[in-house]
Amino acid sequence: MGRFFFIPHRLHFRPMDHQQASAKINELTTALNEHNHRYYVLDDPNISDKAYDDLLRELQDLELQFPDLIQPDSPSQRVGSLPSSGFEPLTHSTPMLSLENAMNTQELLDFDIRIRKDLELEQIEYVVEPKLDGLGVELIYVDGIFTAGSTRGDGLTGENITQNLKTLKALPLRLRDDVRAIPPYLEVRGEVFMSHQDFDRLNQKQLKAEKAPFANPRNAAAGSLRQLDSRITATRNLQVNIYAAGQITGFKVATHMDFIQALQDWGFPINDRFELCNGIAKVIQFHQQLETDRESLSYDIDGTVCKVNELTYQDQLGIRSRSPRWAIAGKFKARQEITKIISIEPSVGRTGAITPVANLESVHLGGVMVARATLHNQDEIDRKDIREGDTVVVQRAGDVIPEVVKVIQDKRPAGTQPYLIPTHCPVCDSHVVRLEGEAKHYCQNISCPAQIKGRIEHFVAKRCLDIDGFGSKLVSQLVDMGLITSIADIYTLSADQLASLERMAEKSAHNIMLAIETSKSVDLWRLIHGLGIRNVGEHISKVLADKYGSLTLLAETDAAAFEATHEIGPIVARGLVEFFKEADNQELIVRLRNEGLDPHKDISAATDGLLADLTFVFTGKLEHFNRDSAREMVESLGGTTAGTISKKIDYLVAGPGAGSKLVKADKLGITVLTEAEFREMVGL
Ligand code: IVH
Repeated sequence: MGRFFFIPHRLHFRPMDHQQASAKINELTTALNEHNHRYYVLDDPNISDKAYDDLLRELQDLELQFPDLIQPDSPSQRVGSLPSSGFEPLTHSTPMLSLENAMNTQELLDFDIRIRKDLELEQIEYVVEPKLDGLGVELIYVDGIFTAGSTRGDGLTGENITQNLKTLKALPLRLRDDVRAIPPYLEVRGEVFMSHQDFDRLNQKQLKAEKAPFANPRNAAAGSLRQLDSRITATRNLQVNIYAAGQITGFKVATHMDFIQALQDWGFPINDRFELCNGIAKVIQFHQQLETDRESLSYDIDGTVCKVNELTYQDQLGIRSRSPRWAIAGKFKARQEITKIISIEPSVGRTGAITPVANLESVHLGGVMVARATLHNQDEIDRKDIREGDTVVVQRAGDVIPEVVKVIQDKRPAGTQPYLIPTHCPVCDSHVVRLEGEAKHYCQNISCPAQIKGRIEHFVAKRCLDIDGFGSKLVSQLVDMGLITSIADIYTLSADQLASLERMAEKSAHNIMLAIETSKSVDLWRLIHGLGIRNVGEHISKVLADKYGSLTLLAETDAAAFEATHEIGPIVARGLVEFFKEADNQELIVRLRNEGLDPHKDISAATDGLLADLTFVFTGKLEHFNRDSAREMVESLGGTTAGTISKKIDYLVAGPGAGSKLVKADKLGITVLTEAEFREMVGL
């Protein structure tokens, strides 16, 4: 067969010199990329598949003879290359953020209210797009050539999957410059996903080969994209749509709409179901429209993404730790099914919180099999009157653990009893209590094995102390053998102890010891986060580290002082004080310090600076500053800035056009400065 194709082809072959070959290779590469773009991006081919294949074969033949002439954007690269042994890490030059969720219409309205308040505007222009249910990726183009691509990873560092991404037919290997100039350096972000049809086809193939089928198209896309053998990725027909910018040099547009146009001009595939909406009402209308149309799409979406259109407004609104303030994901209503509760089981989490979990008769829900559902807490069980043996409606919203919505009362068997969370911990048998104002019951024993494992897993995790190689299996082994009963015990482990564990090579033991040692010099916020204090996540940990600079100082702070800190409310403040009050926790901190784990953050600037402990808000049009440079100025002098007016604000700097913030500041008796007065204050 192969011969049959090759012979007539070879007959056409006339020897070419290097220069002729170079011209021909360039011509063929350009032509094939053009056809590719027409076929996969514009959906408007103008040659037959056969003609395309002929051109491709002609190019491949020439490339075989003149390998030095192969172009970086040659379509022959899309077939995949030899397997690699693993993926290299690739750090994103700016973090790949996630999105805050709006679970219902009210939360979309709240988002709009917040944005209008922050920007002091009556009406905002938004762009709404489908929220594609695949995997986020980043693509890097240098002088218009696709040079590297990565997964999202933890948002900061992903995996280098360049070879795999090259096999995606719609991904341009070279950007078009016929309509718009190409920036010398360009990063874009988008979603890789698989159509329903390709998903079904792949699963049939998996079954035939006696391999496990994929649970849903997203898993299938993830599995395909993370193949070590890119030739397999090439067979999976993955799709890609671009929707966001990373770092781009020498390029400026005013709006997200303009950016979408630029993406198209450069030849990127985008999702065409986007809409410019003036005001939140239009956004909600479009969201509902897409929710209806969802079933007829050929790929999965799990909601819409609503983005502020004006990029200067996006800049003004800024970002939180992990998500932008200028965008929100509107989630679709969860899919529901009916099933039966076999039993209810209390499960103990890392913080000691007891969550009642229902074991269900398995049911298919939005693409996955569901066998367990959370019942949240005793109040929820009481409110819904959920009992073992009940027939119930369960639902799943995106990635969230399924939950029981309601009981179908007339299907309840005779003789059932209301369910009560046990008075003793199912793991360690010590007392379970429910504190005033808390929805959850807690096991009070901080050394409860259920908590210890979870607490340690959290402590060593990437976003905390980041102790490489310290996985959940190892934690389990160490706790079960009694080698660890508290976080501090990590630092007393010896290499011999580790090496004596089952399935632990000496080399790995050595590496883990090194990682433990390295973790002693982590940033303070990671340690705070690692302690697993109730309601203290990554962002609050950073706020605390910046403000207090050491664990010792944190432990000495009282609730009123915490509450006076911007972004810290009464619940977090109470959790912090409770945590540091506990004798076991005090002892833990002393032990950690003795083991050499006592990171400090230099807050001298903050305490010694001219603006130490002062919080500023900027509003209106400023002549000499934009929001970023104003913030930098204040922070360099030890102060902080905020986006909204509250009692905690010391000064409002108001330029022309200031609106509601000025009114509110007046009401609260906050000192208002003109830009000139502020400049004088900071010595400009
Ligand atoms: S914008 C700064 N637009 O959703 C915001 N994300 O939950 C960056 N996603 O990590 C994302 N469709 O992988 C954006 N039209 C869309 C999207 C989208 C899907 C994913 C993306 C992101 C995740 C956040």
